[in-house]
Amino acid sequence: MTFDLFEHLEPPEVVRENLAPGAVILRHFVLPQARTILAQVAAVVKCSPFRHMTTPGGYGMSVAMTNCGDYGWVTDRQGYRYSDEDPLTGKPWPPIASLLYQLAVAAAEQGGFSDFQPNVCLINRYAIGAKMSLHQDKDEKNFTYPIVSMSFGLPAVFQFGGLSRSDTVQKCLLTQGDVVVWGGASRLAYHGILPVKAGHHPDTEDCRINLTFRQID
Ligand code: SIN
Ligand code: FE2
Repeated sequence: MTFDLFEHLEPPEVVRENLAPGAVILRHFVLPQARTILAQVAAVVKCSPFRHMTTPGGYGMSVAMTNCGDYGWVTDRQGYRYSDEDPLTGKPWPPIASLLYQLAVAAAEQGGFSDFQPNVCLINRYAIGAKMSLHQDKDEKNFTYPIVSMSFGLPAVFQFGGLSRSDTVQKCLLTQGDVVVWGGASRLAYHGILPVKAGHHPDTEDCRINLTFRQID
């Protein structure tokens, strides 16, 4: 299949920042497609709206979430899991748009992970003050595939640590179009997002949007 990811656009100048073995920031990797991607997110949200999920411990998450793909990540009092339908609508999640899929695969490849076929895209919306505490992504059946994370809108500080919660964390500011890929020796690294600072972004107004792609089986 030929698919021009940069149709009508110059490929971005990608700057790599190595975080750890298996983990890299690809600065501006999806900057040329940012507005198109945000429009695709808006289309997903029309079918499967953003919602604040509840942790198994009963806390409401500050980040609003939805998904597209064959499965979506959900949490409620019953626990964290992947579901093939949106519990809010009772319908399948909307599909991952082709451009998004291709970009996630291309980013994984740049990060050193070929054969990535994501079947989940978790979409996070951070209002000002929203955060994600340090955690590991470990609800997937298979850790051989990386996590590919794309950021849009308001900047946020991404914390990236080691395999123990107490390991020191690197702090990296992620801005629109930045992609982080972590897998291999870093697949179970602790990571999180500090509370998003007040601001305004021309494409998202007062929020940050983050997409994480996974291949869960
Ligand atoms: C996540 O860890 O699921 C989200 C990370 C981010 O928002 O950058
Ligand atoms: Fe995560």
